[in-house]
Amino acid sequence: MTTKDDRLEFESHKREMALALGKDEEAFQHALNTLVALDKYDYAYLWSWMGVPIIQMPADIMATQEVIWNTRPDVIIETGVARGGSMIFMASLLKVIGKGKVIGVDIDIRAHNRDSIEKHPLSPSITLIEGPSTTAGTLAKVKAEIPADASVMVVLDSDHSRDHVLDELRCYGPLVTEGQYIVVADTLLGRGDMSQTPTKRSKIWYPGDEPYAALNAYLEETDRFETDEVLNGKLVLSSSPGGYLKCVRQ
Ligand SMILES: C[S@@+](CC[C@H](N)C(=O)[O-])C[C@H]1O[C@@H](n2cnc3c(N)ncnc32)[C@H](O)[C@@H]1O
Repeated sequence: MTTKDDRLEFESHKREMALALGKDEEAFQHALNTLVALDKYDYAYLWSWMGVPIIQMPADIMATQEVIWNTRPDVIIETGVARGGSMIFMASLLKVIGKGKVIGVDIDIRAHNRDSIEKHPLSPSITLIEGPSTTAGTLAKVKAEIPADASVMVVLDSDHSRDHVLDELRCYGPLVTEGQYIVVADTLLGRGDMSQTPTKRSKIWYPGDEPYAALNAYLEETDRFETDEVLNGKLVLSSSPGGYLKCVRQ
């Protein structure tokens, strides 16, 4: 039995492999083809977290878990609540960490979804705000929920059109505090060709009119965010490759 403490070595190997995977375009294309094939089965819709449907790829749930555990935000803002699973997931991590709350914004919080969220044991860590994510009124309500000096993380997962996501980045990017992350969901929509665009959605977002295009435009406007190459490198079976950015200056 070995007694060697190999934890640093193990982490270093993980980092090296993730960076290498991030540069492997062939592996990325294989994974993209797999995800396109899985979309036929609504793969992102098949999961739940603690009993509540979460519309995410398992890889993104893992990645978000790594971010939250490492950065321990006081507040997480999510635009796009849907059935609430993602909020419950993030609230469950904050509960174990022992602090913090999740603020969810959605243009349409349906009564049955509100019911599932409000009856969940984690509901005390959750605040729901109904309204379009980028209006002044909604933003004022969100800001009023953030305590002074709180560390703030943001997840953007609402309307995925380029202009809306860019608007959200301009509204919510400034709320993210140094050391915390902004996650731009569904950047995968900008990584394939037109024929790979998911069509089983309430709206269809083709390459160019999607979150990746918005993110790239936003990164031209600000130097506050940097792509986390290690985390994004391993996000091949993800809806949001390249969508995890760290705030590097206040
Ligand atoms: C992809 S779902 C969110 C999934 C959720 N984050 C999860 O992981 O389970 C998108 C949601 O965005 C909401 N939405 C669409 N346009 C919006 C807008 N302009 N402002 C706020 N929410 C919006 C929709 O009502 C829908 O519930």
